[in-house]
Amino acid sequence: MATTADYTEKIPNNVDLHEDRRLQRALESWQPNFLNWWESMGPTLPTQDVYLRTAVNVGREGWANFGHVAMKDYRWGIFLAERDGDRRIGFGQHKGEPAWQKVPGEYRADLQRLIVIQGDTEPASVEQQRNLGATAPSLYDLRNLFQVNVEEGRHLWAMVYLLHAYFGREGREEAEELLHRNSGSDESPRILGAFNEETPDWLSFFMFTYFTDRDGKYQLGTLKESGFDPLSRTCEFMLKEEAHHMMVGTTGIDRIVERTVQLMKEHDTDDVTAHGAISLDVLQKYLNFHYSVSLDLFGSETSSNVANYYTAGLKGRWMEGRRKDDHRLTDDAFMVDALVEGSISQAEVAALTGLNTDLRREYVSDCQSGVNRWNRILSEAGLPQRLYLPSVAFNRKVGAFAGIEATPRGEMLDASEWDGRKGAWLPTEVDKTHVRSLMRPVHERGKIAGWIAPPRNGINGRSFDYEYVRL
Ligand SMILES: [Fe+2]
Ligand SMILES: [Fe+2]
Repeated sequence: MATTADYTEKIPNNVDLHEDRRLQRALESWQPNFLNWWESMGPTLPTQDVYLRTAVNVGREGWANFGHVAMKDYRWGIFLAERDGDRRIGFGQHKGEPAWQKVPGEYRADLQRLIVIQGDTEPASVEQQRNLGATAPSLYDLRNLFQVNVEEGRHLWAMVYLLHAYFGREGREEAEELLHRNSGSDESPRILGAFNEETPDWLSFFMFTYFTDRDGKYQLGTLKESGFDPLSRTCEFMLKEEAHHMMVGTTGIDRIVERTVQLMKEHDTDDVTAHGAISLDVLQKYLNFHYSVSLDLFGSETSSNVANYYTAGLKGRWMEGRRKDDHRLTDDAFMVDALVEGSISQAEVAALTGLNTDLRREYVSDCQSGVNRWNRILSEAGLPQRLYLPSVAFNRKVGAFAGIEATPRGEMLDASEWDGRKGAWLPTEVDKTHVRSLMRPVHERGKIAGWIAPPRNGINGRSFDYEYVRL
């Protein structure tokens, strides 16, 4: 049975919040702090209202409403996927036992940490993207930006609900901290590196939603497997919203490639800079950057923490249920990327300690599907150029390759050679300045900036020239 959300309450929810007055009061006192954070760290472009999707239900059909809403009145709510009363833990030493409805004491600290790290990324991306409204290439894109922003806000609510409902005073303190850390802050930065990088332009935004948000999808996929049932159900519903964020990134880059290809053919040149667009080599550099910092989010190739999380039943593998093994992995081995005798290679480790690499490989093959898609646009246009994912050793700050430099093709370099050549592989000041110079707002209905093609489809069956945002 789908549980319909209660919208008569201050905090829309499908968790019967009114039955737990203490919890309800605690969350209602966090709510104004959240709204203050949204006002001071959220989108800076003033708007009247935006055509937004709001989650209202978790059932298979009709889980969301679309309508014009003033963003500050958006109904951020708490939604968990339907409960399966028979659900059992699918992996680790508790495999086969009923899923936990409460936090097991021995795993309390670890679970809290996992939730805080996930929770920290959600408001971070809103902060990173807060100035993008001022340079949106169309009202359609502006609306999508705001949709992603409000849903990341809702994901923060999702994690804060778990902290408040299951982790007592410490959980409430962590919920406060989630509003106090800020992306890029010197005193209290966000926990993970990629979430302290700027998102200064729309090319970065699309690369971020393609590569960095996709890391989020994979992390949520592992938490969806968790033996802690409320976490599992929360993540299951978040993944539903996440699909739109993936779409924004994938089609955003599609449309940039399309426009670039169009101008390359029209002017018979590879360098479309003078024609107000983004050349393929600059696209490749942005891709290299966002992909490599997103790989860092998966942590080290080997990790005993992650092995422990798996054994304890806290965090599973991507698509755990579809894996054809014993789901305990105590006797298995796994090949991970490694530096072997000074060269980029692989090494065999215990499968449990290699789980970060396992997840990263799933992610990499998903990333490749986007690259294939963009390359199809190039090949269909009869162009020989291709985009590609750089080597896992390229531009890494975390893990086995953090201490070396490598080309995107995976050849090792010494530090001085890297300094001399990195401008060919990562965005230079000249590239960034050019990209930023293209970022002039187009806020007129049905119009689009010159560096990107219009989308094939609008939102929720509306046309591209629909009034998605009223300024
Ligand atoms: Fe999210
Ligand atoms: Fe997202």
